[in-house]
Amino acid sequence: MRSDLGYALELDAVDPLAAFRDEFIIPEVQGREQVYFLGNSLGLQPKKTSIYLHQVLDQWARFGVEGFFMGEDPWLQYHDHLLKPLAEIVGALPAELVVMNQLTVNLHLMMVSFYRPGGKRKKIICEARAFPSDQYMFETHLISLGLNPDEELIEVGPRDGETTIRLDDILSAIHAAGEELALVLWGGVNYYTGQVFDLESITQAGHAVGAKVGFDLAHAAGNIKLELHSWNIDFACWCSYKYLNAGPGAIGAAFIHERYHKDETLHRFAGWWGYEKESRFKMEKGFKPVQSAEGWQLSTPSPLLYALHRSSLVVFAAAGFDNCLVKAQKMAAYHRFLLDHLLTDQPGKFEILTPAESMARGCQVSLLVKQGGRTLFDQLTRQGIFADWREPNVIRVAPVPLYNRYEEIWRFVQVLGS
Ligand SMILES: Cc1ncc(COP(=O)(O)O)c(C=O)c1O
Repeated sequence: MRSDLGYALELDAVDPLAAFRDEFIIPEVQGREQVYFLGNSLGLQPKKTSIYLHQVLDQWARFGVEGFFMGEDPWLQYHDHLLKPLAEIVGALPAELVVMNQLTVNLHLMMVSFYRPGGKRKKIICEARAFPSDQYMFETHLISLGLNPDEELIEVGPRDGETTIRLDDILSAIHAAGEELALVLWGGVNYYTGQVFDLESITQAGHAVGAKVGFDLAHAAGNIKLELHSWNIDFACWCSYKYLNAGPGAIGAAFIHERYHKDETLHRFAGWWGYEKESRFKMEKGFKPVQSAEGWQLSTPSPLLYALHRSSLVVFAAAGFDNCLVKAQKMAAYHRFLLDHLLTDQPGKFEILTPAESMARGCQVSLLVKQGGRTLFDQLTRQGIFADWREPNVIRVAPVPLYNRYEEIWRFVQVLGS
């Protein structure tokens, strides 16, 4: 590898996914395309999004409520369009997915089914300083069950003086909680450090002590390689506005392993949209769930939100998610090379918080800036580089394979250096 601009341009010239950038609307300031490294926050809008959206609006205009049954894409079956491409991205069977609600809502719903405290088995293991919404979810959910969050939540964090969490410490905590452990609910990728967790090992450890295991995949879905089905994960939830580019406040999704689809012992909060499809409109008493993850659906979903999601899944399907992962890995290796190079020239100016092995698996890179972090961040913005600032001194960037270029990584590191 080389650190000159020419090398970045060479990489872009041979990038098999380069053309997919043109599928997205790149934000501009004063007529110049921004370096948009915020795919971990809100993914960019595919150009075809408005076409898919208008198709639904059009159908509504032409058929009114009959749009559920008529037109090019009757809304009653619209959900089916999302399942196959999404299943490829998260490594699930299509029947194990339901696209519904939003992330925090879905976490609560999954807790209803998979957190059944009883006897001495009541504890939950989670990340220390998990994303605030998850913390509030745990707190209020436990209180609603008459439990004390301070007693039942076991938070595992980095050791003193360290910034990331050791897998061994997670596994030891699971082992130590043993028969008292009801649930492990962990993140796929830490939002602050970009650390990618070993979901399979965590799942195996949780199951070995008889606990259920679920994941918040907000920063993992559409970013890292996932095999939710074969890793035997019980459930997972994610939002679709980040790496999945489904728009601000996009519809979320949940994975529920197929072994639970017919399990009548599981509790759930139900609504009519999770009712057996053949007889849903008979509107009879007594809840009969669809025998798939769709049985966890509650309310009438919005075809408008489905359309936004679909427009991005179409791009993923055309590019091939495995190809995206290959490019993400190459970008990460190049990015690391440039950052290491810069650190050799300017030692101690910043620290790469994201472990090298996590960087090789996901898009996010978190940099801890030793001095003048905010000034540096403002300077990046002035130079047309959209990154993300986290107090007190962290800059997060996430070059993504579908619309970012190697040249942009080069520019970012240039500005960082200067
Ligand atoms: C890790 C994580 N969990 C939960 C949430 C909350 O998601 P929502 O607002 O869709 O419920 C976010 C939002 O960014 C997140 O990053």
